[in-house]
Amino acid sequence: MQQTHYAKTNKKINRLGFGAWQLGNTDFWGHMSVEDGIELVKHAIDKGVNFFDTAPGYAHGLSETIIGMAISGRREDVVINTKLGHTADGETDFSIFSLRDQINSSLERLQTDYLDSIILHNPAMNILEGKTPHFQELKKLKEEGIIKAYGVSIDTYEEFLTTLNSVDVDVIEILFNVFFQEPAQLFAKAKEKGISLIAKVPLDSGWLTGKYDEFSEFEGIRTRWDDETILRRAQLVRDFKHITRAKDTTRHAIGFVLSFPEITAVIPGIKSIEQLDEHVKHQDFKISAEMKQAMIELYESKIKDNPLYW
Ligand SMILES: NC(=O)c1ccc[n+]([C@@H]2O[C@H](COP(=O)([O-])OP(=O)(O)OC[C@H]3O[C@@H](n4cnc5c(N)ncnc54)[C@H](OP(=O)(O)O)[C@@H]3O)[C@@H](O)[C@H]2O)c1
Repeated sequence: MQQTHYAKTNKKINRLGFGAWQLGNTDFWGHMSVEDGIELVKHAIDKGVNFFDTAPGYAHGLSETIIGMAISGRREDVVINTKLGHTADGETDFSIFSLRDQINSSLERLQTDYLDSIILHNPAMNILEGKTPHFQELKKLKEEGIIKAYGVSIDTYEEFLTTLNSVDVDVIEILFNVFFQEPAQLFAKAKEKGISLIAKVPLDSGWLTGKYDEFSEFEGIRTRWDDETILRRAQLVRDFKHITRAKDTTRHAIGFVLSFPEITAVIPGIKSIEQLDEHVKHQDFKISAEMKQAMIELYESKIKDNPLYW
């Protein structure tokens, strides 16, 4: 198990974290009962997975609620990162005056009196440029001790660069995986600033497990891909399998992300105890330098000049 310090807090986390968008999220990710969700989170903690990434907008607050119920009596054993800006009611709200109320609602659902970190959930560019008082407000909340650290969740290279150049944050959640490697150019700069980096969507929404192909049918949030994109991803997955010489490529995809020492934690979205156990079993799996180079070359030759969309 690879442990590391988290975001200038005094807590340590397992670099293998838990993406909690799927918890109880029947609309977007298929059925999961509250009971199953609680059991899954408890099981994760029992297995040493102690970093949870959630948000009020995940399953209309249910993701946070499930985590809150599962961690009862074990608050100090876990590190929780949640978000601000997309509320449990499905509203987008980045207004300054609502920040404290949004945090209080998360605290209530999570049944806790502090958050290890809170990050702005895909904020607009002017916020990342530091042209608004958001980070001063978050700094005040940190001084009060309600939050221990703060930052942003972003998707693009431009947003990452702007954040690094413009504002002072403890943590940045980035979209990073074998098919989305652009942020890697900025890892050294983030490290210099002592920023914790969380890698979201490490499996390209499941594609990098190797279990989908051009005939796969998707529901919920994954109906966003058109036929052409599905065909292209299916071909890229074949290329990825060729590099790994494996059919189940989950550990190679996670291993790629964790091979970058600047990445603090990786947060695959987890739907079942079987999936959790699979990640835990391979959590110390390391890809070779040659394999990593081949994954970088795959990106550079087939994706870089014609990026995939999420
Ligand atoms: N804007 C944001 O801040 C933002 C956006 C996206 C994600 N996130 C965070 O990042 C986390 C991860 O992203 P994501 O869930 O979108 O994508 P992901 O981690 O790339 O893929 C998740 C999917 O991979 C499959 N999977 C996971 N572990 C597996 C295993 N061991 N074996 C086989 N299949 C496995 C599951 O697919 P099946 O469902 O088909 O089983 C799961 O739904 C989210 O949970 C969330 O916490 C944040």
